Amino acid sequence: MDFKNKDIISINDLNKEEIRYILEVVSRVENSDCSQLCKGMILGTLFFEPSTRTRLSFESAMKRLGGSVIGFSGEGSTSRKKGESLYDTIKTVEGYCDVIAMRHPVEGSARLAANSIKIPIINGGDGSNQHPTQTLLDLHTIRKSHGKIEGLTIAMVGDLKYGRTVHSLATAMGLFNATLYFVAPQQLQMPKDILDVLDKKGIKYFLAENITEVIDKVDVLYMTRIQKERFPDPIEYESVKNAYVLKKEMLKNAKQGLKVMHPLPRVNEICEDVDCAEHAHYFQQAHYGIPTRMAVIALLLGVLK
Ligand code: CP
Repeated sequence: MDFKNKDIISINDLNKEEIRYILEVVSRVENSDCSQLCKGMILGTLFFEPSTRTRLSFESAMKRLGGSVIGFSGEGSTSRKKGESLYDTIKTVEGYCDVIAMRHPVEGSARLAANSIKIPIINGGDGSNQHPTQTLLDLHTIRKSHGKIEGLTIAMVGDLKYGRTVHSLATAMGLFNATLYFVAPQQLQMPKDILDVLDKKGIKYFLAENITEVIDKVDVLYMTRIQKERFPDPIEYESVKNAYVLKKEMLKNAKQGLKVMHPLPRVNEICEDVDCAEHAHYFQQAHYGIPTRMAVIALLLGVLK
């Protein structure tokens, strides 16, 4: 399979075989010396929205591949402040690097950027829409912890309306015959367009409102943050901000082998007493961002096949 010069914009652009292939490359990266693969190549990180994990793990990944990194975090120090368009920014940076990882608050911005330039673009999150490399690292995490992805049961909990990580993950897990539980207050449930896709593909899912309804059934409990910054009405945020708070005692009925995952950052939805539970897996998950993003960069640059 050849990913050279391709973009990674939405998980929906990848079929099951392509996802499997990328995950195989992630495993190869974990088990081999890749430290010179991208020598002389440059990654541009264009982050118009805050990020800790995505930006830093992309930068670390490129450096571990022997390449270097340019970029910005927040547009405050860029010529966007003088009124430059996203298109002009992207067209300019195209000449400065070999591959771009971009995060932007507007849905569809990564696709627009990819359609405007010739070098590969990786979507590091576009509004509430998609976060495909998060999904790849989530799948890698699940495969490492459970030995497989196929046929598992996963609950996604929290803000399923605005959370882009769960939008990408739900459709990807569906490809692997997962059973999905969507646990959210009614106003933050999974959007209809994603449920329609799952319906069309015959993927089993259930809607729920309480973690206790699902804790004994699932292999993965995927917690998410209520996305304060996406709420048009702050009063609505106040009404749901404490909807789910996972405490260690709530895990006593957990299925054996259950892993608690979270794309992070967390606010209050996982108590710190969970961190020392055998089920806690979210920091390990964040660390898998490195081999996952190394694999993606190397594939798009054509230095791994
Ligand atoms: N998971 C994730 O996207 O984290 P950051 O917002 O810190 O990049």
